[in-house]
Amino acid sequence: ELAPIDKAKFVAAKRAAEMIEDGMRVGLGTGSTAAWLVRCLGDRVAMEGLNIVTVPTSTRTADLAREVGLKVVSLEEAGWLDMTIDGADEFDGELNLIKGGGGAHLREKVVAAASDQLVVIADKSKEVASLGAFPLPVEVLPFGLSTTRSLLEETLISLDVLGRDVTLRMKGGVPFVTDEGNHILDLHLTRIGNPRQMAMVLNQIPGVVENGLFIDICDRVVVGYGDGRVEVRD
Ligand code: A5P
Repeated sequence: ELAPIDKAKFVAAKRAAEMIEDGMRVGLGTGSTAAWLVRCLGDRVAMEGLNIVTVPTSTRTADLAREVGLKVVSLEEAGWLDMTIDGADEFDGELNLIKGGGGAHLREKVVAAASDQLVVIADKSKEVASLGAFPLPVEVLPFGLSTTRSLLEETLISLDVLGRDVTLRMKGGVPFVTDEGNHILDLHLTRIGNPRQMAMVLNQIPGVVENGLFIDICDRVVVGYGDGRVEVRD
């Protein structure tokens, strides 16, 4: 029997997996919720002979996808995707998102932008009135890390934000390295008054590769509850 949090992720993933139709090209997100989706799709391929090709957003997801028997191709090979299903760290009432808690938001955003539809799967705890309690991940080049960080800190002072702490994400005592060979700076903002402006301003800073704000990209959020209920927001 699953713990309520896992049940919530599972039922959201299962509902989203049912949105996939034969012949589709499907983007696969990253994280614990997306992992449930990958397993559900693996089940559908095995049981119904569903014929799909998938494009994973991380090496982690690619490994799992192959393990459960999904056909994995690169985004270059797929060209364009019908639907991407991914998790999120926060979503608001306009279906804007914070992503990148797992450090994969760069590839996730590229894959989402190459998809007709982005469907997010999340447990109810990810729903917020306004974005920003979850630290906003910003992927940056290793080259010039300190100056990029200073520029980011100066930028935050000029914007409508409460918190301004910037931390370098670590893993095993060394800076975390993304699938694209970059680092992540996490912005502890408490609340983002204007996510649209924030997303644009951050990406103007030299050395910033991509921020974790997804604005006007998500089409639907499938919300799972610990008791097994599912709601779709669109
Ligand atoms: C990965 O970089 C993130 O964008 C994930 O989508 C996010 O961290 C959600 O992960 P969980 O499903 O594990 O909460």
